[in-house]
Amino acid sequence: MTRLLTLSIICIVLWSSSTSAQLRRNFYANICPNVESIVRQAVTLKFQQTFVTVPAVIRLFFHDCFVQGCDASVIVASTARNKAEKDHPDNLSLAGDGFDTVIKAKAAVDQIPSCRNRVSCADILAMATRDVISLAGGPSYAVELGRLDGLRSNAADVNGNLPQPTSNLDQLNAIFGRNNLTQDDMIALSACHTVGFSHCSKFSTRLYSFSRQNPVDPSLNKNYAAQLQSMCPRIVDPRIAINMDPTTPRIFDNAYFKNLQNGMGLFTSDQVLFTDRRSRLTVNTWAKRPLTFNNAFVQAITKLGRVGVKTGRNGNVRFDCGRFN
Ligand code: HEM
Ligand SMILES: *[C@@H]1O[C@H](CO)[C@@H](O)[C@H](O)[C@H]1NC(C)=O
Ligand SMILES: *[C@@H]1O[C@H](CO)[C@@H](O)[C@H](O)[C@H]1NC(C)=O
Repeated sequence: MTRLLTLSIICIVLWSSSTSAQLRRNFYANICPNVESIVRQAVTLKFQQTFVTVPAVIRLFFHDCFVQGCDASVIVASTARNKAEKDHPDNLSLAGDGFDTVIKAKAAVDQIPSCRNRVSCADILAMATRDVISLAGGPSYAVELGRLDGLRSNAADVNGNLPQPTSNLDQLNAIFGRNNLTQDDMIALSACHTVGFSHCSKFSTRLYSFSRQNPVDPSLNKNYAAQLQSMCPRIVDPRIAINMDPTTPRIFDNAYFKNLQNGMGLFTSDQVLFTDRRSRLTVNTWAKRPLTFNNAFVQAITKLGRVGVKTGRNGNVRFDCGRFN
């Protein structure tokens, strides 16, 4: 009897100390068994219309998870009384196609009566992220589900919670560490910059005014620096956005790491992963071994999806992803 009691206490303690206990694969098996194929179909349709869907969805997921957890708070629109996360200056120009993808997938899910308003926007974003990564040639993985949508979205919450393109390794590790992600997780996730675009303003200091002695960042490959200067004039044109992966911009692959070895990381926060000796070995390994990278990436994005998950009274399933119920 005492043993049984001890055992159940141990079980309760173990259960409550594991943050990911609430998330699991096939969470919707009884409620909406086809949810994953419905979402994949909607995402594939959007992908066929524009490739931007891929980077837009991935970055939306990242920014959602790092600000108040993976709870779709980033999708909520501002109102007259509340300036939402997405309108923070650091919204770093989240592309509209990411929001549109989630809204379309949600509409497709809600067409099935048993699914209507039962699948969270946060889970739809997690599924869509998994789908765009595999559509772009990245690894396929089983996605954990069971998140609720958050009840708050405030621009002020963004402050200090997102990494900056000028960040060094210690700053990156600190911000990812706060989200229970290791240095290796951070390096694997940074490889998301294998797809997508950046505006010139995010890196033009590296091209023209790095330091007094070196106007051009010496860690930049010389030819690449010249190429970037020709695409991004000294006077920044905010309309210009360039590929972040100059070699295979539409493929989710490990070219990101090979680029770093060649001084072709676009941001300081990218290139530092190679220039800093503490992270270089990982970059070299993943540049050489795509499958090892894929495994590390799947582990890292799964952990990213567990950040700050809402359950119980801390959340609900939003009827409209862009508005609180
Ligand atoms: C490590 C620190 C990181 C920094 C400093 C950073 C910063 C940035 C910046 C400045 C841009 C360009 C935004 C623009 O000019 O429009 C960008 C784009 C992007 N980032 Fe990151 N990022 C980081 C990590 C990540 C991670 C972990 C992911 C995914 C999990 C990610 C996914 C993306 C994607 C997909 C884009 C392209 C967006 C598009 O084309 O619409 N980033 N990032
Ligand atoms: C943030 O988003 C708003 C509206 O969605 C946009 O007008 C603004 O230019 C964005 N800010 C930046 C810095 O990209
Ligand atoms: C990190 O993990 C701890 C322990 O499992 C948990 O209490 C905390 O909420 C997690 N942090 C985030 C941001 O998810």
